[in-house]
Amino acid sequence: MEFITENGRAVGRIGQGTWYLGENAATAARERKALQAGVEAGMNLIDTAEMYGEGASEHLIGSAIRGMDRASLYLVSKVYPFHADRRSIFLSCENSLRRLGTDYLDLYLLHWRGAVPLAETVECMEQLKAKGRIRAWGVSNFDALDMDELLEVTGGSRCSTDQVLYHLGSRGVEFDLLPWMQKQGMPMMAYCPLAQAGSLRRDLAGCAAVQNAAAAHGVSLWQVLLAFLLTRPGVYPIPRSSRAEHTLDNAAALELRLSAEELAALDAAFPAPTRRTPLDIV
Ligand SMILES: NC(=O)c1ccc[n+]([C@@H]2O[C@H](COP(=O)([O-])OP(=O)(O)OC[C@H]3O[C@@H](n4cnc5c(N)ncnc54)[C@H](OP(=O)(O)O)[C@@H]3O)[C@@H](O)[C@H]2O)c1
Repeated sequence: MEFITENGRAVGRIGQGTWYLGENAATAARERKALQAGVEAGMNLIDTAEMYGEGASEHLIGSAIRGMDRASLYLVSKVYPFHADRRSIFLSCENSLRRLGTDYLDLYLLHWRGAVPLAETVECMEQLKAKGRIRAWGVSNFDALDMDELLEVTGGSRCSTDQVLYHLGSRGVEFDLLPWMQKQGMPMMAYCPLAQAGSLRRDLAGCAAVQNAAAAHGVSLWQVLLAFLLTRPGVYPIPRSSRAEHTLDNAAALELRLSAEELAALDAAFPAPTRRTPLDIV
């Protein structure tokens, strides 16, 4: 499965997150190798944000991708909501580009909704597109009602994606946001797909259904969590790892096919919500 953007570019179904990467000089070389191993394994979407280490993650990515064919990569960054206005967004974007060592972003996201009117942010995003500084734009942490409002704004329907928290233990998006996005043909980027290695939901790693599926296929618990998300059309997980062996483990989840019985057991352990729930965020 591939993530086809507005520009017809094909991107690996599993991307790479980078929150907290690049913040520690002692582990930077290992993190760089992890990112490079991921790209080699086909995880060519790299997600970052000006917020991550206040630019440290973008710097690390810039050094990891130096010398790579830029056109083979799909770089995503995010603007702080308080920079998403006419006064600040252009400088924010230039700073992200400089740190990444590139002259365009494939996708630029509004990190979360703030006080700037959506119409102003959309207008700025479209200007960035017209200037060739970004290829597409989207949002993050928008719930279904936010998306309704976005679509009311001039140009709002050009939004390419919504990046939201989504993992087996947090399935609120399945009630309304995901079906709505699937109907629109809009991909959903799933962040914290591993629930931060289970730390957001400690019972995930201890769950018998997850453990049984992992044992039956001889894979890691984390591959089971990713394979669960991959059964959802249009969902693109972006796990983060600072270690090449973990990154490759995550990439291999693409090959894992969970049986109907295994999926039913996961569903029974962590049922989908039957009513609207507030969007989970970290
Ligand atoms: N838009 C937003 O507001 C938002 C919010 C949060 C996150 N994000 C994005 O989503 C990305 C992913 O979320 P996240 O980083 O919070 O959490 P995550 O990807 O759910 O989990 C990351 C943790 O899992 C561990 N891990 C990864 N692969 C593993 C494997 N195969 N085996 C064992 N451990 C493994 C990592 O440790 P090791 O380093 O030791 O592998 C790390 O501790 C972020 O990095 C960021 O790009 C976006």
